[in-house]
Amino acid sequence: MPDDTMVESVSSSALTPKPQVRTAPAELDANGTRAVAETVFAVEDLHIFYGASEVLRDLTMTVCKNHITAIIGPSGCGKSTLLRCFNRMNDLIPGARLEGTITYHDQDLYAPEVDPIEVRRRIGMVFQKANPFPKSIYDNVAFGPKVNGTPRSQLDGVVEESLRRAALWEEVKDKLRQSALALSGGQQQRLCIARAIAIKPDVILMDEPASALDPLATIKIEELMAELRQDYTIVIVTHNMQQAARVSDRTAFLTAEVDDKGDRYGVLVEFDDTDKIFTNPSDKRTNDYITGRFG
Ligand SMILES: Nc1ncnc2c1ncn2[C@@H]1O[C@H](COP(=O)(O)OP(=O)(O)OP(=O)(O)O)[C@@H](O)[C@H]1O
Ligand SMILES: [Mg+2]
Repeated sequence: MPDDTMVESVSSSALTPKPQVRTAPAELDANGTRAVAETVFAVEDLHIFYGASEVLRDLTMTVCKNHITAIIGPSGCGKSTLLRCFNRMNDLIPGARLEGTITYHDQDLYAPEVDPIEVRRRIGMVFQKANPFPKSIYDNVAFGPKVNGTPRSQLDGVVEESLRRAALWEEVKDKLRQSALALSGGQQQRLCIARAIAIKPDVILMDEPASALDPLATIKIEELMAELRQDYTIVIVTHNMQQAARVSDRTAFLTAEVDDKGDRYGVLVEFDDTDKIFTNPSDKRTNDYITGRFG
């Protein structure tokens, strides 16, 4: 069934982005000068708990506009948990709670006046397993815009544009009224990306979006991400290190540690430019992970 990430209309709110510039990280622009990337999310001293157990400890990082930020690390270290904090999906998990702050365009994402439904409209999510609604291809893409009040006369255009941007239009333009469930896995995943784009989000979160796909479909998704990066900010969790190295600008490496009480918790080991993480990491644990010594 449709989830509530798609469902609410937009109102002007606490989340309206304010122009702002931050100092780090910087990247070289075409002239070779340092251009300053705008911060979309700033995570500071974040601790996340499920009930009494702390699953992520003291995490600080930033996500920059029009970057692809990859989150990598061994199973169970808290990658999906962290990703879900960015659009408050963890709110839906009983017992989940966080300490510390996450700002989104300088607004405290967890402030009482912030509407989590509006958050999920601006910050869309694509899951590991493609989850199209049991509806036609057209209706999958049109669903969010319809609920958001897009006039009927504009829906065809929105559907086409979203499918084009998700690199699926050519494959489905003659069968828009057919069930989305009849598409291949890779096509279903691109449909879910089209559905996410159709409501014009600011950020797209992807949790292992290509892990169930064959190499060709995976390449398509990666090409698509590179294309989308021009207009969106993307955060992707992936187990595929080549994928992280190929597609992302910055990479966060998380791992799980055990404290002296025997409690297991996730930590951010290193967060840096992707090239640095994969060629010259600062931490031995990162090096061990990327060279396949554990995980
Ligand atoms: N809904 C939940 N309730 C309680 N504990 C949870 C819940 N979801 C995750 N956890 C626990 O939090 C920790 C981190 O889980 P998470 O799913 O974020 O890891 P992950 O890095 O995404 O792992 P994987 O690579 O296997 O997907 C794990 O110990 C997990 O058991
Ligand atoms: Mg996960």
